Amino acid sequence: MLVTGHTGFKGSWLTAWLQRLGARVIGLSVDIPTEPSHFSELGLVAEIDDRRMDIRNAEAVAGLVAEVKPDFVFHLAAQPLVRRSYRSPLETFETNAMGTCNLLEALRLPQHPCTVVLITSDKCYDNVEWVWGYRETDRLGGKDPYSGSKGAAELVIRSYHASFFSAADSQVRVAVGRAGNVVGGGDWAEDRIVPDCIRAWSQDRTVEVRNPDATRPWQHVLEPLSGYLWLGILLAERATLNGEAFNFGPPLVQDHSVGDVITALAGVWSGEARYQIARPAGGVAEAGLLKLNCDKAFAHLKWRPTLDFQEMIELTGQWYDGYYRKDRRESVLALTGAQIERYESLARTRGIAWACD
Ligand SMILES: NC(=O)c1ccc[n+]([C@@H]2O[C@H](COP(=O)([O-])OP(=O)(O)OC[C@H]3O[C@@H](n4cnc5c(N)ncnc54)[C@H](O)[C@@H]3O)[C@@H](O)[C@H]2O)c1
Repeated sequence: MLVTGHTGFKGSWLTAWLQRLGARVIGLSVDIPTEPSHFSELGLVAEIDDRRMDIRNAEAVAGLVAEVKPDFVFHLAAQPLVRRSYRSPLETFETNAMGTCNLLEALRLPQHPCTVVLITSDKCYDNVEWVWGYRETDRLGGKDPYSGSKGAAELVIRSYHASFFSAADSQVRVAVGRAGNVVGGGDWAEDRIVPDCIRAWSQDRTVEVRNPDATRPWQHVLEPLSGYLWLGILLAERATLNGEAFNFGPPLVQDHSVGDVITALAGVWSGEARYQIARPAGGVAEAGLLKLNCDKAFAHLKWRPTLDFQEMIELTGQWYDGYYRKDRRESVLALTGAQIERYESLARTRGIAWACD
């Protein structure tokens, strides 16, 4: 099983979950993007086949795919930050759009049987700031370079599917997962609200909030990951899912702003939690309103979110609290493992298909 972006926030949780499920994971990432990092703290390096490689290097990616012949691929490697995409648009397009192309090309040539789940973003949609949730059939777009690069990755996937992987007997099947803003323990990325809060609060500083009124489809990291894994399992079984895209988001009624997240997180953080609004003059454009409609994931996969807003915040705050308070090395493995176990158990109790079937 190949996981690209395995050293990142979502990739490290996915790798930890797959390890618990007994999968043999090969990881492809160019670097470990933060210090500290969830990946390093978990001590996964010794447990998996850990490769450092640039997804922009088509030859290297083809070589790795030919060597390891993965049965499943989860593609998460990306430059995922909107503000950084304004500083480095070319790197963002090359990594997110051409990187996806390099991976699909590597899979096209050998035609080894493989089930591929490609992770893009809710930001691949042309955001017209309407109040409805975006559906998978809505227009793709993206004004900022990050969003544009994810829209471009979608077109690459669509074209490769239509041209090379759409035959009923295709050895390679592809599907797309689109999720929104993900929170959870172990994220230390720049310019994300939860890591910004935790960095400040753990050093007894006040966090500055740029955009308190923006609403986002917030969800715990394990929610989209359960969707990606379940999509992978069902895609391997059902040819009808080949070429399909799915939104994985929170319930539409769960409509929370940046300010709501900070207030709730402050309530869970055991230390002092101070914040102040600092709207930047002439800041870069970021979407104000963005929701996902997940009816398709429910209709075809019987996937739905497990957690409510408060549970999402509690899991997140408790993880960071545990990290900053206990002996680290042991506690990260234990913290992450316990949260995966709790999430699986809640999903079973609530009758979510992937946990019960
Ligand atoms: N975190 C979110 O809120 C969120 C929301 C929607 C979509 N996504 C998408 O989910 C995926 C994972 O996001 P994340 O938050 O875990 O990001 P992250 O920054 O934590 O991790 C990114 C990973 O990609 C790897 N990477 C970056 N450039 C690379 C390159 N040129 N070659 C090889 N590897 C490279 C990094 O080494 C790292 O492993 C991305 O595709 C992102 O766009 C994330």
